[in-house]
Amino acid sequence: MSVDTVTEPSSTAVVVVPETVVPVATDVTFRIRRYRPEYDQEPHWEDYTVALYPTDRVLTALEKIKSELDGSLTFRRSCGHGICGSDAMRINGRNRLACKTLVKDLDISKVITVEAIKGLPLEKDLVVDMEPFFAAYRQVLPFLIPEGHEPTKERIQSAEDRARFDDTTKCILCACCTTSCPVFWTDEAYFGPAAIVAAHRFIFDSRDAGSEARLEVLNEKEGVWRCRTTFNCTDACPRGIEVTKAIQEVKRALIFKRV
Ligand code: SF4
Ligand code: SF4
Ligand code: FES
Repeated sequence: MSVDTVTEPSSTAVVVVPETVVPVATDVTFRIRRYRPEYDQEPHWEDYTVALYPTDRVLTALEKIKSELDGSLTFRRSCGHGICGSDAMRINGRNRLACKTLVKDLDISKVITVEAIKGLPLEKDLVVDMEPFFAAYRQVLPFLIPEGHEPTKERIQSAEDRARFDDTTKCILCACCTTSCPVFWTDEAYFGPAAIVAAHRFIFDSRDAGSEARLEVLNEKEGVWRCRTTFNCTDACPRGIEVTKAIQEVKRALIFKRV
């Protein structure tokens, strides 16, 4: 590291001051697929250039574009920190959360493309209709179905039993997995990986008594057997969930008729 050396006039002491590295903002161009149903027959691409620091996120870029260049740009966001799952979009052709994608991890020597996730009805710009996604989610009964009477104390579970579904508890319902699935792109009736992940979280919970009903739903024509094990969903998950593995575990539970 280079340093500036300063000699104080009143003494012979030498104070070493580390050189401050000042981050530099660079112009980055985004090509965004726009669609405003009140004006556009078809979606089209528009370019926007904004100055960004390497540690800025794509979400920051979109907010800058909206506030400085074009207030009509429409996208979803809420937490800004990878928790709410509302800003899933295709960035350079890959499903990601805009708030978790840093400028320094993209090749800014080229134009960065941003478009809505695929396979769900496009409503406006980067916003899709999530209802088909949540309809599939609701069908797998994504809640604990306990047995017996209301307990008077906590339902105890061993650490080993808890570990069986730990991975799938991390889902934030962002839809990155389902909308990266080639089966879902061609067949919207397919439950999709996110719904199966939600089912997995309860099927393998030792306190739950609803596994049979969930497995019956997922055994249907548009259930787990539509999965072609292409791993797109696992690659797309911003939470690092082993989505395809969870789907395989559900398939096994159906084949061997036990969880
Ligand atoms: S592994 Fe299955 S669910 Fe995941 S993307 Fe491939 S086909 Fe879709
Ligand atoms: S499994 Fe991952 S990619 Fe799919 S909805 Fe949940 S968090 Fe998003
Ligand atoms: S804004 Fe909440 S996950 Fe990105």
